[in-house]
Amino acid sequence: MITCNKGKGFFHLSNSSVSLVLQLRQDGDMGQELLQTYFGSPIHDGDVSLPSYSDHFSNDGLRTVLPYACPIDGLGDYRPSMLRVMDSSGRRNAELFYESHQIAPGKPVLDGLPATYAENEDEAETLLITLGDPVTGLKAVCSYTLFASSTAVAANVKLINSGTEALTLENAASACFTFEGRYDMLHLHGTWAHERNVERIPAARMTRQIESCRGASGHEHNPFVALMRPEASEAYGECYGFSLVYSGDFRIAVDENCFGTTRLVGGLNPRTFRWTLKPGDCFQAPEAVVVYSSNGLNGMSQTYHQLYRSRLCRGYWRDRERPILINNWEATYFDFNHERIMKIAKTAAELGVELFVLDDGWFGQRNDDHSSLGDWVVNTKKLSKGLEGLSEEIHGLGMNFGLWFEPEMVSPRSDLYNAHPDWCLHIPGRRRTEARHQLTLDMSRKDVQDYVINAVSAILRSTQIDYVKWDMNRSFMEVGSELPVEQGEIVHRYMLGLYRVLAEITSAFPKVLFESCASGGGRFDPGMLYYMPQTWTSDDTDAVERLYIQYGTSLCYPASTIGAHVSASPNHQIKRVTSVEMRGLVALGGNFGYELDLSAQSPEDLEKIKEQISLVKNLRSTTNKGVFTRLLSPFDSNFAAWQFVDEKRVVLCVYRILAHPASSAPVIRLRNLPLGVSYRDENHRVLSSEALMNIGIRPELKNEDFSGFIQIWERE
Ligand code: DGJ
Repeated sequence: MITCNKGKGFFHLSNSSVSLVLQLRQDGDMGQELLQTYFGSPIHDGDVSLPSYSDHFSNDGLRTVLPYACPIDGLGDYRPSMLRVMDSSGRRNAELFYESHQIAPGKPVLDGLPATYAENEDEAETLLITLGDPVTGLKAVCSYTLFASSTAVAANVKLINSGTEALTLENAASACFTFEGRYDMLHLHGTWAHERNVERIPAARMTRQIESCRGASGHEHNPFVALMRPEASEAYGECYGFSLVYSGDFRIAVDENCFGTTRLVGGLNPRTFRWTLKPGDCFQAPEAVVVYSSNGLNGMSQTYHQLYRSRLCRGYWRDRERPILINNWEATYFDFNHERIMKIAKTAAELGVELFVLDDGWFGQRNDDHSSLGDWVVNTKKLSKGLEGLSEEIHGLGMNFGLWFEPEMVSPRSDLYNAHPDWCLHIPGRRRTEARHQLTLDMSRKDVQDYVINAVSAILRSTQIDYVKWDMNRSFMEVGSELPVEQGEIVHRYMLGLYRVLAEITSAFPKVLFESCASGGGRFDPGMLYYMPQTWTSDDTDAVERLYIQYGTSLCYPASTIGAHVSASPNHQIKRVTSVEMRGLVALGGNFGYELDLSAQSPEDLEKIKEQISLVKNLRSTTNKGVFTRLLSPFDSNFAAWQFVDEKRVVLCVYRILAHPASSAPVIRLRNLPLGVSYRDENHRVLSSEALMNIGIRPELKNEDFSGFIQIWERE
């Protein structure tokens, strides 16, 4: 529900779990400024009153402590801002005052950008507040959507130039929230094959920030930050999450001032952004989803999981159980032909695998990574029966067929590059730096977007393809375009172009399951999930490494989005030897598949794989859609544990990293089970939910390096 109290000058967005308050503050006779003064556990309308900032600060210092909802650079607010707006003479010149507001049922669509959505008008309510600058004519429409049964608020801002002179945006972030008090900052950092490590930085009186300026959201930082009260933990205490629904350059800043208020602001990265706003133009900033939890990090994650699984992901596959796939990348790399692929596919089909994915190397002259990106024509030297013949035979085995593409790239050794050397991002007169021997197509150009749409669509139309892996394997360098626009716009225009391409292709092939990828998890973000409901999590497929990667990823992203495959042992990335049971139990924590030469496994392992597959088929309704709770962190201990719960059952997975003499596994107490329910294990032992939560169980984990344990309780 959204209340507007004009007399007292406040807006109160509330439901049974959360309240967000925005207030108007009179600034002399200039007008009313918009402040965001509260976000937390529910309060009453009558509780709202404007905090008295001026008791403590003289007027000139005031602007730097006010909790502005849409702070602007240049007029005395020195904290990280949302907007930097220059007039035509280069002055930072804009100031925003309240003009009007509107309360709308449901949630408006964001043109050309990914965003969460409401399927029915009663699922959400949106407050749109228009602020205006009497001098330049700039208008900012600040939008806040509260979902009816969630603690999530989706926020964004749309900027309109209603003046007569062009304005330049040097910063146009999505949202700004201020919280009283001190907060630890938690973020997910990493690198290629080592993504989303959890780091918690104690509260500090400074600006802490994460960013990407690589053209993708990146391996280094995920566009997600949590703020935690110093006493908060996984299970208890107050936390906030800030997640940006965007796949390119971003910045999220957390600023604590000396008065102990914490500002959280995030959006496009101003380091690589500039935008000309001509009279009459508007600019839509991406959406930020901000979540409140009074139940620790798990409460925050569960809110994101529920919202992103059901109101960010879309389409045919959103609510469907995801197929168990086999991908040939780590089985063959580029070295395959029709017969070798069919050998793996046959074994996979016999074991119960449902989808065969042919990875890189099927097109052009692509026998290694030196050539052919852009030439999306099957290589019949390798695939003698073409894609059509292969797809038919794979379908004949009872499996679906999927294919890898890297459509945003071009190899300098390709027909596409020979024909269109100007189609890649480049700066005239500078070298074109290759990474993985490739250049990035200039997706800001409509002709390039159309080429990609047509090339991918032609293949998808040519034969039965049920799944696409959409890869992207390098960062931006030398960003320039032949598009006749302010060149500072190109980084964001690339992303808008990519989103257009994804929208066109995914809606033209609605039943195809799309999975995004960027050298593993280099673009694991909510923006991509809007178009593709699952993501390849990391190129590191080692089971122990994956405990950390999947644990970190789960902070913001639901298990149904987390691609997790059983690969070979010794592992190809780090040579670790692990049992097939351990690898399977770790992959079961995400979107399950295989990535190894099944036809080369021992008969004993094949038997275990068969059992694994039937277990996953049995449990995946729970592991894809049940409530996921982290119980033990591998970052803090020698163990990891998590549980999935739905109305049918509880699934508990526990992992030991290293064995130690005379050591026993810890007692695990399950969490958040419905009260008064009886659960039966496979030995027909019945335990109450109270016993599982309060007494717990000691998992029968082998005292061996890298061992896993699973326990399933069916609800009576
Ligand atoms: C990077 C991906 O992360 C891998 O899974 C694989 O598809 C390779 N690219 C292929 O080049």
